[in-house]
Amino acid sequence: MPTELTLGAVYQRRVAVSLERVWENVHDWEHLPWLHDASFSGIELEDSGEWGWRARVRLASPGEAETLLIDLRREPDRNVYHTRTLEGAGKGADTLVTLTPETENSTHVRVEFWLPIADAEQAESVGASLVAVYTRLWDEDESMMIRRQQELDAASARRREGVPPAIDAISLGPWESLSSRLPLRISSAAGDYRVVETGAGFAAHMTRCPHWGGPLADAEISDGHVVCPWHGYRFSLDDGRAADGRRCHMRPPPRVECDDHGEARLVFPDRG
Ligand code: FES
Ligand SMILES: [Fe+2]
Repeated sequence: MPTELTLGAVYQRRVAVSLERVWENVHDWEHLPWLHDASFSGIELEDSGEWGWRARVRLASPGEAETLLIDLRREPDRNVYHTRTLEGAGKGADTLVTLTPETENSTHVRVEFWLPIADAEQAESVGASLVAVYTRLWDEDESMMIRRQQELDAASARRREGVPPAIDAISLGPWESLSSRLPLRISSAAGDYRVVETGAGFAAHMTRCPHWGGPLADAEISDGHVVCPWHGYRFSLDDGRAADGRRCHMRPPPRVECDDHGEARLVFPDRG
């Protein structure tokens, strides 16, 4: 550790996920301004690889409308990584994280905040505020990682069970009262869906993001798209495609229709 850095604080915790989930999260630069929107408002990737990533990260706090150049780098063959601030506030700081797998679903995390501050008392004070920020960041990361593991486990179970029986349509009850019952969440053998109303009428979408299984049951609807809270991908309520043309997309959503008896139905396009 370079001598000009002072250890400001050490933060330790356990997260209830495997080491694999933690490394996946560490490499996932894209979630910063979405999952951690209280801390970050934007990110621009400069480079990434097995070694880690380097990106310009915009801070969210009003008084800190500032961009930092961050370099996150794994130490080869060790469960250790550094997050170094190369430019911006706190330039020169090095946050050293050591990961220790404990059980299949538990990983110990030790974070050391090495700060470019010579005065020990001042370094301790900055360290204490960083511990508060990191506590929130790791809380948010842990809830995402747990949820992702649950989604992966559920996907494996579905694969073991085989293809579910085809469903043509699902009843949504009286058409007349549909509007007042929204948002409506449907759990079925065909998957879990949410029915919403937009300026263009009723629409339905899957509540599991096709990217990493992010939660869409309460996701924002914006301009005819559902926006995933984990990485901000936007999927069309019309055809399931990603707004920016990326390859990740949803299955074409079911249509919301009214049958001859005044009943609202969710009709699956490939079968309906
Ligand atoms: S899980 Fe990544 S955008 Fe939804
Ligand atoms: Fe994170």
